[in-house]
Amino acid sequence: MSLKGSLTVASDKSITHRAIIFSSLSKGTTQIYNPLLGEDCLSTLEIFKSFGVKSHIENNCLTITSPGIDSFEIESPVLDAKNSGTTARLLMGVFPYLKKPVTLIGDDSLSRRPMRRVVTPLSQMGARIELKEEATLPAHIFPSHLSGISYVLPVASAQVKSAVMLAGMLAKGRTTISEPIPTRDHTEKMFEDFKIHYQKLNRVITIEGPQMPQTPGEVFVPGDISSAAFFIVAALIVPGSEIIINNVGINETRSGIIDVIQSMGGNLTLLNPRYFGGEPVADLKVEYTPRLTATVIEGELIPRLIDEIPILALLATRAVGTTVIKDAEELKVKETNRIDVTVQQLSSIGAKIKATEDGMIIEGNPMEDFCEAKVSSHKDHRIAMMLCVASLLLEKPLVIEDVESMNISYPDFLQHLQALSEN
Ligand code: S3P
Repeated sequence: MSLKGSLTVASDKSITHRAIIFSSLSKGTTQIYNPLLGEDCLSTLEIFKSFGVKSHIENNCLTITSPGIDSFEIESPVLDAKNSGTTARLLMGVFPYLKKPVTLIGDDSLSRRPMRRVVTPLSQMGARIELKEEATLPAHIFPSHLSGISYVLPVASAQVKSAVMLAGMLAKGRTTISEPIPTRDHTEKMFEDFKIHYQKLNRVITIEGPQMPQTPGEVFVPGDISSAAFFIVAALIVPGSEIIINNVGINETRSGIIDVIQSMGGNLTLLNPRYFGGEPVADLKVEYTPRLTATVIEGELIPRLIDEIPILALLATRAVGTTVIKDAEELKVKETNRIDVTVQQLSSIGAKIKATEDGMIIEGNPMEDFCEAKVSSHKDHRIAMMLCVASLLLEKPLVIEDVESMNISYPDFLQHLQALSEN
């Protein structure tokens, strides 16, 4: 069954989180057009609502009215980031500024993920944050006076960079952050939208604090390339497919998947490149490609496609030759250990894939059939959607345990997939 037609995928998760955070910190009203209302972004919104921020949703627009960070009321000291690493890590950069202590908690998956990477620089800035012994949540965060620091990011993480940027914005004095490997720059773009002055030169960000964000009134969120990735791969591997995905963010720090697909010989064309709310976007035309070639995914490419690796692993199983993914240890500390879970789940349906210390090796063969198996998302949204795409290559339905985890980033995924298959 081929995929045909056009669609607009879920809006960008990273940008929606940031839009909610900056709108909530700013005094006044902000309209966020085309927001992602997936579970992760709602976790961020709920936390700010507990501080007295008001919101309503109408006609695909989220309106946020805030008294501003200096007038937040901390009604409940326990704040739940649920499954969302972006909520937890970015907000850790803000919470030391609050007037009362708070405790940040998360679900089982988030409570296993490393938090020292954010607490180390924030402590150097003067924040008092107590983690569990294993350097995980819950985090007890106490009111602190922050001062600027110079920090070299030891991991390529936009979440850590953004936490230090937010703390630097609220801190006294100069904060500099050096990023040896570039990561997504949506926080930098939000700084511009919300009139926070900063400089970025040769991978070094400098902020003079304290500064308070000021609302631009409106923010526009493009489609999420990480969500589009599932449809891009589906159209490339399902015979006869031809689709157009509208208004997808193609920010250079996120578009590694486009480079990889072009290097594999995939039929992917960017139409109407333009700007949408300060972010570059395009419509993506994708056609079935019977002969894809294997590739190597490594180095500075990794942060540019970190969330797309499970679906790229599936794509590699259909390409001729051996695809190697390396330098991707970060996958071990995502919602699941995505190296192990991707390898286990794809192996169980017959793919020739093995895990390595920092990635995976995939022996691709476009002719090989997948087999039926019991598979599970392990409650990881990106694994759930990858397995749905894999199921398109099977004759019989694939039973995917915990498939509803896709609500984290793409609540309408199955309806969108169905609509393209019915065309
Ligand atoms: C995100 C950054 C990435 C990414 C995550 C969202 C963000 O995490 O995997 O889904 O919005 O900043 P790291 O920065 O930890 O790599």
